[in-house]
Amino acid sequence: MYDELFEPIKIGKITVANRMIFPPISTNFGKEDGHLSELFLRHYKTRAKGGVGLLIIENSCVSFPEGKHGAYEPRIDSWEFYDDWKKFAGRLKGYESKLSVELTHEGWKKKGVGFLSEEKIKEIIEKYGTAAEIACKAGFDMVEVQGAHGLIVNQFLSPLTNNREDKWGNPVEFAIAIRKEIEKRCGRDFPVTIRLAVDDFKEGGITLEEGKKIAHILQEHYDMIQADIGLGPKEYRLESISFEQGWRSYLAEKIRPLKVPVAAVGMIREPDIAVDILRHKADMVVLGRTLIADPYWPIKVREGRVNEIRRCIGCSECIKARHDEDTRIRCGANPQVGREIDIEPAMEKRTVVIVGGGPAGLEAARVSSIRGHNVHLFYDEFGGTLNIAKVPPGKKKLGWLIEYYKNELAKYDNLEMHHKRALKQDVLALDPDVVIIATGARPFIPCPPMHNFVYLYDDVLRGEVKFNGKKLAVGGGGLVGCETANFLAENNEVILIGRAPEIAFKVETLTRKHLINELEEKDVKIMTSAEIVDISRSGEIVVEQEGTQMIVETDALIAAFGSRSFVPFQIENIPTYIIGDAKGVRNIYSATSEGFEVAIQI
Ligand SMILES: Cc1cc2nc3c(=O)[nH]c(=O)nc-3n(C[C@H](O)[C@H](O)[C@H](O)COP(=O)(O)O)c2cc1C
Ligand code: SF4
Repeated sequence: MYDELFEPIKIGKITVANRMIFPPISTNFGKEDGHLSELFLRHYKTRAKGGVGLLIIENSCVSFPEGKHGAYEPRIDSWEFYDDWKKFAGRLKGYESKLSVELTHEGWKKKGVGFLSEEKIKEIIEKYGTAAEIACKAGFDMVEVQGAHGLIVNQFLSPLTNNREDKWGNPVEFAIAIRKEIEKRCGRDFPVTIRLAVDDFKEGGITLEEGKKIAHILQEHYDMIQADIGLGPKEYRLESISFEQGWRSYLAEKIRPLKVPVAAVGMIREPDIAVDILRHKADMVVLGRTLIADPYWPIKVREGRVNEIRRCIGCSECIKARHDEDTRIRCGANPQVGREIDIEPAMEKRTVVIVGGGPAGLEAARVSSIRGHNVHLFYDEFGGTLNIAKVPPGKKKLGWLIEYYKNELAKYDNLEMHHKRALKQDVLALDPDVVIIATGARPFIPCPPMHNFVYLYDDVLRGEVKFNGKKLAVGGGGLVGCETANFLAENNEVILIGRAPEIAFKVETLTRKHLINELEEKDVKIMTSAEIVDISRSGEIVVEQEGTQMIVETDALIAAFGSRSFVPFQIENIPTYIIGDAKGVRNIYSATSEGFEVAIQI
């Protein structure tokens, strides 16, 4: 069924075993001084083990410090770093994956390239040559030039940043010069690929028509082209959860046919989608976050174990870490990211009782089961809060995690599932050695729900209360309030009332931007720094904003003021761990991460 994914393909003279590419994804796992770390190495080794055809190491700095892009960006700008890259290539050589590294220079996006002197341009080009030579001598199979995302090559390509009148005003000149310099250093047979901005996604920038022309010229110089996005807003190239799978594969389709392979990028999560793209639009598919969430995706597909894949759920935790915090990446679906430790059998088999079937409890059950413990899992609702988190528009990918755990946990004979709300005596009756409380949180109710006027977001998202054509107020400007408003605004008039000066302020920047756009498109009225001070049964709420009180007329108030940790009972004299939202209300990452962490220790 998925044979197309496993057809070999030539990049230059190198044969890549299959059509899958792990693209550059900055991890911040390197050291602050630009050297590579053991964690960095293991992270990529795991992806190589997973069977991807081409593994492209994250953006690496060709010119330090001026071209640096990220706090822990690896350096490949000087021979001082050669031993790191050699060791790296040596450790990954035994695998089928071909090795590449993305050569990056941040450039000067705001200023553009007009101010650069001829000497400076030549110096930068030579630096690309040195970086490629380091990679080539270290044992890499090829290198990739970062020619998208608004970085220096893109800046030369784009009319928005290149207004030069000398030869460098020709948009492709810089990219071609880099290729020639690399050829001089490494020979024509050493393949060089390019991640190319075929559309800037910005007015006045490269259009797809121009991108196609650029690609047609560059096919004479580069050995594979990834059809990517240029210097426009980040949210299109680090797309959040609601984007359709493979939505921008048309970029690859439009620049084809070329005499070199073309790769499609962006939100390709499932093998059916990937194969469809290979059949109609591209020669290779890029699986970025897809392989962060599950590095073994290629092997699982090859072995017909598709339902064992842990799909990327689009929670954007990795982007939050890399782009909002510039710290080590982490993954909401895959807690092994950033840990890269194997799950070993436990030295001593224990009876482990887990209370709660949300992501924290499910991950604890998975890891405890793999380790061979005698595991009992109590749950009243498999998946916990994920069941309502997946309801608002565009969030259905969150449900993939529930499906994953359902398939995964069904595999273990040493795991007994109890579909019931556990009481303390149920737990004690099993005589556990360890108890894990993962009972999550319950919606915070500031006032008793009033029939026919105040409702809980939880009941609304579960479909227990339905509204159509009503005027509604949603109280609470956090993520839950915003998502509930977004859900209700599909067929109601909604006003969102939040206490903080901004809504959804803890949410990853691009996801937040997208969510706010959606609310605006649906005409949701947003009140910030506003507090509900009184509620009447007659359909009025009193809201105070900046010292002024006002009446908001509404058919109902939906309380979405967040949640409070819920721990139903304490267990004495037995080692007990409280994890996930039961410990403190946070997010999916904290839940799966703590589930993993606790189960790896016991
Ligand atoms: C955390 C993170 C870091 C990234 N770092 C890089 C990078 O170093 N260089 C690059 O060209 N693209 C980078 N990207 C973009 C990815 O390579 C890829 O194009 C993007 O994630 C879309 O593909 P996907 O939906 O398969 O993840 C990064 C993406 C993420 C999520
Ligand atoms: S952190 Fe979230 S978005 Fe990023 S790879 Fe993991 S599941 Fe996907």
